[in-house]
Amino acid sequence: MDARETASLHIDSDRDSQEGTTYSLNSAATRYRYENGRTYSAYREFQYWGPNDLRMLNHENIVHHLCLLTMEDRLFLAPVENPQRVLDIGTGRGLWAVRDMADKFPNAQITGVDISPQPERSQPLNVEFIQDDVLSPWVGYGDGEESYDLIHIRGLFGSVADWPALYAEIFRHLKPGGYIEQMEFSVHNRSDDGTLAPDAVLAKWSAYAKEAGERNGTTAEIAEQMFELIREAGFEDVTLKRYKWPIGTWSRDALHKKIGYWNVVNWEQGVEGWAMHLFTNVLGWTKERVDEWVKTVHEALKDRKQHVYHYAPLVYARKPERSV
Ligand SMILES: C[S@@+](CC[C@H](N)C(=O)[O-])C[C@H]1O[C@@H](n2cnc3c(N)ncnc32)[C@H](O)[C@@H]1O
Repeated sequence: MDARETASLHIDSDRDSQEGTTYSLNSAATRYRYENGRTYSAYREFQYWGPNDLRMLNHENIVHHLCLLTMEDRLFLAPVENPQRVLDIGTGRGLWAVRDMADKFPNAQITGVDISPQPERSQPLNVEFIQDDVLSPWVGYGDGEESYDLIHIRGLFGSVADWPALYAEIFRHLKPGGYIEQMEFSVHNRSDDGTLAPDAVLAKWSAYAKEAGERNGTTAEIAEQMFELIREAGFEDVTLKRYKWPIGTWSRDALHKKIGYWNVVNWEQGVEGWAMHLFTNVLGWTKERVDEWVKTVHEALKDRKQHVYHYAPLVYARKPERSV
């Protein structure tokens, strides 16, 4: 039997308190690791830095809402009409793939793959979910090469050690003329009017996140790098949209004001999960230091005098009809 399917319970730590300890729970349905108050996928333990608990799943709703606001309710921008086969890499709870894409394209076969188990119990008939690490060979969803019309990624920053290898795999599995589309969230906060001081909390976040990605060997800066890397992977007509996501309602523009409002909710609900595993394990902080720091971020989010934003860039590109 696959070790992933065992129904045993393993306690990894012999410490008494749950705080600051790590243990794993195995069952047929779920398998996860607990660390510093959050749970994580146990498959390929801690390869992915983000929690997979209810708090993080709820947070995915906010990010999905922000993306829909940004893209004016479109699910993708690549000029793909009537897709037959779609793959969503790092699908999470599947709001994009399982809920919206499956609903909008009932005749398409949608596959969502994630390193973490799929939390939703029921899925539409045209959806399959596969629990797998996309950095390993794509067994069961990529056996037939050149299968997909569209391969979609959203929010995989800080998770991939070898992006060129992943883009090469995506290239191989797209039909000629098929599209890759990727949306990412830059960790670099900025202001155009100097209201974000270099030593401000929201500026320091960017430095910490960058450092954690560098030390971990999984860049946090894929938002900045993906256009070039996708072009180098052999795709053509590489198109970049650089959306600005304000943090706060300081923008006069109605849509940016709305995005800014929801982006504060995104940060409030997300920042602990973004930081806890990486900062304790990679930067060597204590849990208490992360807790204190998260409080200062929450305070900074209320400051309307700082006109802070970050980019949420999106790239789409086509696999040539004839590969050379
Ligand atoms: C920030 S979440 C984004 C979820 C979803 N794409 C969305 O936008 O709502 C990143 C997801 O990528 C998954 N992930 C990270 N590394 C992965 C890997 N190597 N293989 C498959 N999934 C991975 C995580 O488990 C997580 O669900």
